[in-house]
Amino acid sequence: MSSQLVDRFGRHVSYLRLSVTDRCDFRCVYCMAEKMQFLPHDQVLSLEELYDVAHAFNQLGVNRIRLTGGEPLVRRGVMSLIERLGQLPVELVLTTNGSQLHKMAMDLARCGVERLNISLDSLQPERFKTLTRNGRLDQVLTGIEAARSAGFKRIKLNTVMLKGRNDDEVLDLVDFARRAGLDISFIEEMPLGQITEHERAECFCSSDELRERISSRYALTPSTERTGGPSRYFRMADSDIRVGFISPHSHNFCGDCNRVRVTVEGRLLLCLGNEHSVDLREVLRSYPDDAERLQQTLINAMAIKPEKHEFNLEEQPQILRFMNMTGG
Ligand code: GTP
Ligand code: 5AD
Ligand code: SF4
Repeated sequence: MSSQLVDRFGRHVSYLRLSVTDRCDFRCVYCMAEKMQFLPHDQVLSLEELYDVAHAFNQLGVNRIRLTGGEPLVRRGVMSLIERLGQLPVELVLTTNGSQLHKMAMDLARCGVERLNISLDSLQPERFKTLTRNGRLDQVLTGIEAARSAGFKRIKLNTVMLKGRNDDEVLDLVDFARRAGLDISFIEEMPLGQITEHERAECFCSSDELRERISSRYALTPSTERTGGPSRYFRMADSDIRVGFISPHSHNFCGDCNRVRVTVEGRLLLCLGNEHSVDLREVLRSYPDDAERLQQTLINAMAIKPEKHEFNLEEQPQILRFMNMTGG
């Protein structure tokens, strides 16, 4: 079924990114402030409400749901939600920081999660600790191993590349991905929220520069494959893995945007880089059994989906919400 969610530019929304918590056990320097104020419980959608939102989107033709956070796997009871979502006729995928995978990877695969994206910004324990403000690399590497054995269709590593902070590891990370047989995407940092540890413009590391550096060791051939997200993929002759680039600054990909986000407060965000949104929590709580009203709200919301994001690294961030509140 093609999606009934169509915006003013004729784009069909078939992909929901559903944030199940704003909390996280890490505090990555590009994602959060050091001292984050998390949402009080009564402002957060219950697992039941999250399911109702996912179900409504699926009824309207959304066929891919990516669970995000914060860190989705620190939400209490999340596996019961995942188990229910796994029964829907959708491709269920998840983005995680990897810290809980050593104990949860098997259950995720069993409950129907097909693909996993795991953040990995450094292979150096001390640097990893600095970038995540206290994360343990060994725990994440054990989690990646657990995920590799759990039988997912595909696992992708995500690296946010910051000039002068981790960009010297680009080839080490590609080699790690090659040895592990995992895809890897390099991401240009996006200016969401006011961060304090580095100047975003100074740390900007363009995908083109990274691609050139990787090409000095491995010939990269553009691939036409897409996973529904914004990554542009490349292949290497002697490996099955794909190297992807997510380049919100240098290669705008909004023209074929197919997705929306729902934050854990129940705010339907029509675009990552804009504030256009609709309050679904209000609808869910005022009309708890009115599935039709919820669906109609989603259909109507398409009228305010913006054409594209306009990020400017030189200015103060226009988007004050942090990435953990946005769901990536
Ligand atoms: P696939 O669905 O497997 O293609 O995943 P993905 O790479 O799109 O998702 P993931 O959660 O791993 O996100 C990787 C990066 O892409 C994060 O930095 C996201 O913020 C970014 N991203 C995903 N969708 C969008 C989008 O619509 N706009 C922008 N600007 N960035 C996005
Ligand atoms: N810019 C780009 N990517 C970000 N992520 C978190 N914050 C940012 C940001 N400011 C990434 C995480 C994770 C994904 C969900 O989003 O590293 O891989
Ligand atoms: Fe947590 Fe992911 Fe944000 Fe890092 S990027 S602080 S792991 S939500």
